[in-house]
Amino acid sequence: SIIFLNGAYVRAEDARISPFDRGFTFGEGVYEVCIAVNGNFVDAPAHLARLDRSLAACGIAAPPERAELHSIMKELLQKNDVRTGLVYLQVTSGMSSRNFTACPEGRPTLMMLTQASDFEQTPAFRDGIHVQLQEDIRWLHRDIKTTMLLPQVMAKRNALANGVSDTLFYDALGITEGASSNVFLVDGHGTLVTRPLSNLLLAGCTRERILELAQEAGFVIDERPIQRAELATAAECFVTSATYLVAPVLSVDGRAIADGKAGQVTRRLQHLYCAYIA
Ligand code: PDD
Repeated sequence: SIIFLNGAYVRAEDARISPFDRGFTFGEGVYEVCIAVNGNFVDAPAHLARLDRSLAACGIAAPPERAELHSIMKELLQKNDVRTGLVYLQVTSGMSSRNFTACPEGRPTLMMLTQASDFEQTPAFRDGIHVQLQEDIRWLHRDIKTTMLLPQVMAKRNALANGVSDTLFYDALGITEGASSNVFLVDGHGTLVTRPLSNLLLAGCTRERILELAQEAGFVIDERPIQRAELATAAECFVTSATYLVAPVLSVDGRAIADGKAGQVTRRLQHLYCAYIA
């Protein structure tokens, strides 16, 4: 496959990144995952705006190609002949000696790759997922989309080891988010509940779009933390992300949500979101 690296389209096997890249030695990098459906990006402006916020929060200089990111994304999809799939975009601060505070020499490293995937045909989207809960032991800047993903990798590996497919994190106030998604609950009155934005969770682009579509469709929305205990009485639960789209959550720690089947509000929002991205 072809990737984009520092201004050039190269074959992945020919790509070279320095061992001194601070993304490699210090995890000093940020990223985005934006999907395309039939050649059209879903909410690309929101993803690129969040990239800007992540870069600014880490003090990483914007890459020189910044103004053209959108057209590079498009070009890369075409070069790899991907119509429906994702673009992964990563920016690290660049190279320096192995010194915590050294200023990178030269420009930030910009890398993009594509991956074909039919998001509406995944088992998660069609059938739903089983999840476990884990205390959120990540840092307190979860609003920054950093490549520093070890806690998420560990939580997801642990989920698989426990026979489920993902982990939802919680803190003292309730559910924060999924390991790579935002979490919604539908209560007994049909109200949509999701945690308000703060430094404690990522401002999901899909979350934002679902809130807008739900509001247009007349749903009542309550942005407040979801208590762990509420999962026992919830009518429905689902997660949102660029790659999950909207995925029903069927059970948590082995306890079924309601009857353990995807709920009708979740199915309705899946439908609305698919119409939006089509
Ligand atoms: N993850 N919360 C976390 C911790 C995430 O990593 C993600 C996305 C989201 C949802 O954000 P969005 O709706 O903008 O995709 C929430 C991507 C998909 C990933 O890491 O692969």
